[in-house]
Amino acid sequence: MSEIYNIIDKKKLDVVNNSIEKAHGLPNECYTSKDYTLIERKKLFEDKWIVAGVASSIPEIGDVKPIDILGMPILILRNKQNEIKVFHNVCSHRGVKLVSKSGKINSLIRCPYHSWSYSLDGELKATPHIGGMNKHSVDGFDKSKNNLKEIRSYIWLDLIMININQNEMSFEEYIKPLSDRWEKFWPIKDRELIHHSNDFGYFKLNAKCNWKFAIENYCESYHLPWVHPGLNSYSKIEDHYHIQGLPNRFAGQGTVVYNPQFKGKEKLPSFPNWPKDKENIAEYVALFPNVMLGIHKDHYYAYWIEPISHEFTLEHMELYYVGEQAAQANKFKSLRKQNHKQWEDIQKEDVDIIQGMQTGRNSPSYNGGNFSPVMDNPTHHFHKWVAQNLI
Ligand code: FES
Ligand SMILES: [Fe+2]
Repeated sequence: MSEIYNIIDKKKLDVVNNSIEKAHGLPNECYTSKDYTLIERKKLFEDKWIVAGVASSIPEIGDVKPIDILGMPILILRNKQNEIKVFHNVCSHRGVKLVSKSGKINSLIRCPYHSWSYSLDGELKATPHIGGMNKHSVDGFDKSKNNLKEIRSYIWLDLIMININQNEMSFEEYIKPLSDRWEKFWPIKDRELIHHSNDFGYFKLNAKCNWKFAIENYCESYHLPWVHPGLNSYSKIEDHYHIQGLPNRFAGQGTVVYNPQFKGKEKLPSFPNWPKDKENIAEYVALFPNVMLGIHKDHYYAYWIEPISHEFTLEHMELYYVGEQAAQANKFKSLRKQNHKQWEDIQKEDVDIIQGMQTGRNSPSYNGGNFSPVMDNPTHHFHKWVAQNLI
């Protein structure tokens, strides 16, 4: 492990130190090495604020949902007090993964192996026969010291943000630069109106590639004319601008010509305080490491990434509208359907490309390439963020 760290260390330093004029991408090992991915898991996915799902995917008390982050089993659930809780999804006895399917748990989370059972607050409640047949306790074993291990969490724009190693600043502070940026056209009081749609509110894509390619690709609009000819017909490359977060924890792009053209007479309702002179602005921002956000006057989406391995990634799209009516009523159903299809088509176009990038990274002739000093800027910022956090 330390060997691979040494090999890539020098190249990572180049990524951090080089200006965009001289920038290269991260080295191939960052995409093709299983060993390297363990370092990344620790430094990026345990030490940073990351996304573990969305609150509206577990709407009712007792709803549980497992996810895996680079092999690390995590459980999100809604407890009896209607709060979202996040735990390490592993039994305190002999370490079996506790919950393997999404579902509803009415009373206790029961381990499938020897039936140790936990409340929805993670308290160890039952340890059957631990002291021998029909002796459910044993001297020297304190149940309260063997609860599930809770993970620090915070809900923002329906996203379940977690910080596994509890080492980051508060999430409010962490997100302030992005939140402040959006205040001028998407004020906080409007953000409270987002409503997840039940019918056309979700899709999932499998990407046979490293998770970072999804983020890198999302950051730039350079590929628009060739990868998304449909989108490019009304939102051209020159209608986009770059976004770089300071401090560097998000990057992306915006358009100045957002103007949905769906079939039918209805129009989706807009956020009430989105200024009239900014109606055609939409922003697409990757909040590092694992969520891609899209904000528009009439809908919001969170496209979050579940990295399964160094070469396989799940992408979850969650679509939200302005208020319950827009998200659920029949009147807007056709618009939701068209919007869902539009985003699914676009994201599939991107998946085709990023899978090609994974294959390309197995070529010994390539090891980071050369960035455009103008067009690849936001992607370079993401690479810098990765490299800086690994050093
Ligand atoms: S491993 Fe869970 S009860 Fe034994
Ligand atoms: Fe794209």
